[in-house]
Amino acid sequence: MTPPGTTMRAAQFDRAGGLEVLRVRTLPIPTARPGRLVVKVRAAGVNPSDITSRRSRWPRLPRGTCSDFSGEITEAGPGAGDLHPGQPVWGWLGPFALTRSTGAAADYVEVEYDRVAPAPVTVPLRDAAALPLVGLTALHALRDVVRLRPGQRLLVVGAGGGVGTAAIQLAKAMGADVTAVAGSAKHALCRELGADRVIDHAAPAPAVRVRDHDALLACHGAGLRTHLDRLHRTARAAVLPARSFPYAIASSLLPGPRVRISAARPLRHDLEELAEHVDSGTLRPVIDQIHALESVQEAHRAVETGHTRGKHIIDLALT
Ligand SMILES: NC(=O)c1ccc[n+]([C@@H]2O[C@H](COP(=O)([O-])OP(=O)(O)OC[C@H]3O[C@@H](n4cnc5c(N)ncnc54)[C@H](OP(=O)(O)O)[C@@H]3O)[C@@H](O)[C@H]2O)c1
Repeated sequence: MTPPGTTMRAAQFDRAGGLEVLRVRTLPIPTARPGRLVVKVRAAGVNPSDITSRRSRWPRLPRGTCSDFSGEITEAGPGAGDLHPGQPVWGWLGPFALTRSTGAAADYVEVEYDRVAPAPVTVPLRDAAALPLVGLTALHALRDVVRLRPGQRLLVVGAGGGVGTAAIQLAKAMGADVTAVAGSAKHALCRELGADRVIDHAAPAPAVRVRDHDALLACHGAGLRTHLDRLHRTARAAVLPARSFPYAIASSLLPGPRVRISAARPLRHDLEELAEHVDSGTLRPVIDQIHALESVQEAHRAVETGHTRGKHIIDLALT
């Protein structure tokens, strides 16, 4: 028999499929291997990649769900850097997280020490879980891929979702002028976050092409041709969804705006930069709904719609 205090709840699936494959199981609490930390999870973010992972048999099963989180360190393995038990942190398990048998939707998660950083102190630890993956994605795309500069005009497509809401705020903090493309229900939110103007993604493409933007972040792949037509010929574009990738290949061969695939990286110094943005008031979590672990199917269902308003998070303290 397993001694009390050595088990935890974790959302897991042992076959690929619909919402019904998600189960909350009782599993052993992980212990910290060298170079790793164990974090008592306060909350975990639900992202579109969790839906893709749940539907895929590859590479092995069972798997956990959710890859970014906030929480408190309970154990540090040998060589796990300067972070210590008791410290509030946030992090992202990384791009291959969704191959693990347990994810961040669990009471505890084991994670490499350099994928974790001290959490921001000016927002509740629970709410901070809405930011690591989308914040890292937006930061990398804007700072490193499109190399956004003050005064430039940026177009953000899918601006009302997880990455988009972070991108609007970070772009304003970088001194850019932001045009948000979003569904009409999210226009007020985009303006509140700092967007200078909004375009309804359901509106027909403009009859006359006006190339008046310097950069594009496409968090949604629909209508990409129309959005690229809004860019100067020397502009840079970062695309996230896989279905936009043919544009990146074509742009390396043809004249016009340079389209690049942008992929988030789990870097500690970037998490620290994001925490500075939060604590200086230039970035805040935008939360659509908070779910209990036992409602993990509902959380997946909401993200699966593709029309979330900011983020859905799982609160491990909620029952
Ligand atoms: N490469 C990477 O490292 C990386 C990292 C993170 C995410 N991603 C990918 O990036 C994408 C965005 O992620 P996310 O977390 O922001 O997703 P999300 O929270 O689901 O947001 C997607 C947004 O797109 C909007 N949208 C739907 N139809 C649209 C249309 N026709 N035109 C413009 N916008 C539309 C949705 O709301 P409304 O329709 O209501 O406006 C929603 O707000 C996903 O494909 C995700 O897998 C990639």
